[in-house]
This record gives sequence, C-alpha cells and structure tokens, in this order.
Amino acid sequence: MLQNKIQDYSTEVENIHLDTAEQVEAFRLRFLVNKGIIRSLFEEFKTVSQEEKRILGKVLNEFKQLAEEKFKVAQERIGLSNTDEKSANLADLSLPGEGFNLGSRHPLSLVRKEIVEIFKKLGFIVAEGPEIEDDWHNFSALNFPPEHPARDMQDTFFIKKQEGNDIALRTHTSSVQVRMMEKGQPPFRAIMPGRVYRNEAISARAHCFFHQVEGLYVDEGVSFADLKQTLFHFVQELYGAETKVRFRPSYFPFTEPSAEMDISCTICGGTGCAMCKHTGWVEILGCGMVDPNVLENCGIDSKKYTGFAFGMGIERITNLKYEIKDLRLFSENDVRFLKQFETEII
Ligand code: PHE
Repeated sequence: MLQNKIQDYSTEVENIHLDTAEQVEAFRLRFLVNKGIIRSLFEEFKTVSQEEKRILGKVLNEFKQLAEEKFKVAQERIGLSNTDEKSANLADLSLPGEGFNLGSRHPLSLVRKEIVEIFKKLGFIVAEGPEIEDDWHNFSALNFPPEHPARDMQDTFFIKKQEGNDIALRTHTSSVQVRMMEKGQPPFRAIMPGRVYRNEAISARAHCFFHQVEGLYVDEGVSFADLKQTLFHFVQELYGAETKVRFRPSYFPFTEPSAEMDISCTICGGTGCAMCKHTGWVEILGCGMVDPNVLENCGIDSKKYTGFAFGMGIERITNLKYEIKDLRLFSENDVRFLKQFETEII
C-alpha cells in the first residue's frame, strides 16, 4: 500500500547518515532524480482512490519536503570542502597564467602630461578651475566688450541667462587665470590645462569641445622677450631642437600686444605638405602681454606688474606629433585607435 511505502521511506530518510559527498549523491539518485523514488510515489498516487488522495496527498508532500530538506542540509554542510576538493583536482599548475589587459593612456593625456612636465621645469605650477563659468571670469574680466561675437549663442554654450553675469560652459581656460589673479598677488607662474567648449559643428577639423593648456606669468619686469624665449624653449623641448618658430601679430581682447606663434611643420620639416597646407608653417598657439585692464580687473597694480599669457589646443599639438587628421578620433573611444599610443602601467 502506498501509505506504508511512504511510511517506510520516511523512516529511512530520517535515519540515513549523509556524511560524505558520495552518500549525498547516492541519496539524490535514490530519491530525488526524475526516475527516483519520490517521482514513482507520485505516479502511484495518481492511481489511488479519491478518498485516499485526500489523506495521502498531504503525507506524500511532507515526505517530499523531508527528503529535499535532508539533501539540502547535507549538501550545505559538506558543500565547502566538496568544492575545494573539486577545484584542487582541477587546477593544472603547469598551465600558463591568464594575462590581464593593460590599458593605454589617451593620446591627449600623454601630450598634456608632456606639456605640463616642460613647464613645470620652468617653475610653472598647474592650476585648475570650473568648466561651468560665469560671464565675468570667461569674458568680462578678460576685457571682452559686451557686444563681442564670442558671447554669441553661436560660439558659446549658455546654461543660464543671469542679469549681467550669464552662466556658460567655459570657452577657454583663461577663466582660470582670472580666478588665480583675483585670489592673490604676483608673482604668478602657472599653466591651466582643461576642457573647453565651443558651439561648433563637429567635423574632422572642429569639435564642440577640446582641450587647452593656457599659461600665465605675471611679475615685475616681465617682457615680451620672456614670452618669446619661454615659448621657444617649450617648442624645442616638445618637438626637437631643429624646430623653428615665428610670431605673427594678432589680436585678443585680453592681451596687448598679441601674437600667434607658428612652428616649422613637424611633418615635412618645412618643405611643404598637406598638414601645413604647403606653407612649411603651422600655427600652434595664441599669446601676448596681459592687457593692463585685465590686471586691474583682477585687483593687480598694472603700473607695477606686467605679464604674458598664452594658450594652445592640446588636440592641435597632438595632431602634429602623431599625424592625426581627424579630430573626432579623440572622442570616439575606438580602442584600435587608442591602443596605438604608449602603454604604461598607471
Ligand atoms: N584664450 C585664447 C583662446 O582660447 C588663447 C590665448 C590665451 C591667447 C592667452 C592669448 C593669450 O583662443
């Protein structure tokens, strides 16, 4: 009779000792698998009368729970030593280890680091500031007149219109120069690396964000000769002693006089190629003597102090080093591109 069978198996399960993995496995095979005892009892259950079902249904389910619980508890009890044993048997110590992938630095980070190192040796410190700026630090303190086109929506990403002091994404890291000068008194000798934003259509030659390193040197008696020599030294360190420089007069609201600096083309050496548009020269930065208005706006006595400033795009400097022709590569994160640069343990 089914009821007796269940009774006998229950006694067996209650008294059985499951101390080893083998015993647990044998238990599983005897009771729990598809062709095991429990399943066969359920098959038999289907054949009994309706009346018996009412009583036996409960008894059978209790037995099933009992067997499953017994198995689970035994499995957990010996589970740990069991897997240890298993993995110890599986480990083949003669196999080569699993290598791990080393990342590589982004080319822009590499070049920024190089630029920073060169200026650090000249005594420049690194200064940083916020990417969300107000009008004062990005424009007004830097002598931009209110109607200057850079303030146009087409050139600048505005975040919030605010009476007399709009909030925008900084368009250059010159804003950090203002913050620095406002906070103290000369001498200042610092470079400001950072990301900047301009409202440009994205193409091979332009992007809505890029990276700059700007520099500022303010002290008594700083002259244009200091500016030229500092930047000449920088270029020679970065691109090699054979690199030539030239300065062309230019205009920035915050410097007077202002200039743009070209270097002899690093790709063709000055003989003419696509990179330098066959001129032999490429422009790499803007610079000039800090306009006295800017010094005064920041609370610095422009009769006592003079200074120079410069700013360059890291992308441009990198393009000339690695001959990268499409700016978009820098922000697409394609590892095939990124892996081509120096790999180092960070
Ligand atoms: N801020 C200028 C720019 O973003 C660069 C610059 C900095 C020019 C300092 C002159 C002096 O284009």
